[in-house]
Amino acid sequence: MPKQHPPDILSEEQAIGRLQELPRPWADDDYLAMYSNWLGGIVTQPWLMSVPIDDHLVHRGDGVFEATKCEAGRIYLFERHLDRLERSAASIHLQLPISREELTGLARAVIRAGGQRDCMLRIYLSRGPGGFTTNPFECPEPGLYLMVGYIHPLPPETYANGVQVGISRVPGKSGFFASVKSCNYLPNVLLKREAVQQGWDFAVCLDTEGYLAEGSTENIGLVSPDGCLLLPLPGNILEGTTVRRATELAAGLVAEGLLAGSERRALTVSDLKAAKEVMLFGTTLDVLPVSTIDGRAVDGGQPGPVAVELRRRLRDDILNNPEMSTAVWE
Ligand SMILES: Cc1ncc(COP(=O)(O)O)c(C=O)c1O
Repeated sequence: MPKQHPPDILSEEQAIGRLQELPRPWADDDYLAMYSNWLGGIVTQPWLMSVPIDDHLVHRGDGVFEATKCEAGRIYLFERHLDRLERSAASIHLQLPISREELTGLARAVIRAGGQRDCMLRIYLSRGPGGFTTNPFECPEPGLYLMVGYIHPLPPETYANGVQVGISRVPGKSGFFASVKSCNYLPNVLLKREAVQQGWDFAVCLDTEGYLAEGSTENIGLVSPDGCLLLPLPGNILEGTTVRRATELAAGLVAEGLLAGSERRALTVSDLKAAKEVMLFGTTLDVLPVSTIDGRAVDGGQPGPVAVELRRRLRDDILNNPEMSTAVWE
């Protein structure tokens, strides 16, 4: 990056030339396509994928988003992600500037422009450009940005061995702020940072009353010593699309006797440490077994049968159940 003191005032041509040439090693082989209602079209060059600085999304985190996964040319649980996007938007008094059908059409168009049948699609709905105060009424129109990039799946060994989880000291979001998938992810960022610094694969946080909440971008669940799938209560977490679908699939495991039941409860760290199995749920992870909590092995330290079977059924649902996904290429 060219550094000069004092910096030059760049001509339009120079600025565009620099934007084109700036090194972006994290983007060049990863970002596939972006739609922006600001530009009114789709771009496939990473140097053109940007958001205006006066969009309140940038300087106030005033917006909501969804991260969805497209596999084998179909976006898994897309309708449920759109439901959550609409709910999140409504709760911060923001409305989609287009219909759901139009948004689905845009999602298809931008994924096709990216050219990959397996990819991540992220949708950002922002307050829009309009100045630099906190006043949302400054912004005449919402911003809508759809970003497509490669998926980064975890290697098969990670599922075979399980992951290490630490209990974070970062306080989780609570109530309203936990339930809205807003672009205010500072607590989630600090959670992730702690995990990386501590050498954990994932960190999970507790709510203000000390009950188990969630990870930075994943939900957590456990199998109790008496064989029940237990998930935290809804109050202080984001309601995950993956854990919800996994719970529906778990009904089959209950019917087959692999689980004694499935319910939501206020869960403590002691429940976690006494569990037969612990697992994480999320769009990019699917169902991921946890092998240690704060350095102590969960049961035998090996992925248990419930996590393995739930993941198998979820993968089957992703790849073979058209009712749960939306086709990008008909
Ligand atoms: C805070 C938080 N919790 C849980 C999840 C898991 O949700 P989903 O299964 O819909 O990806 C996410 C997803 O990104 C998240 O950001």
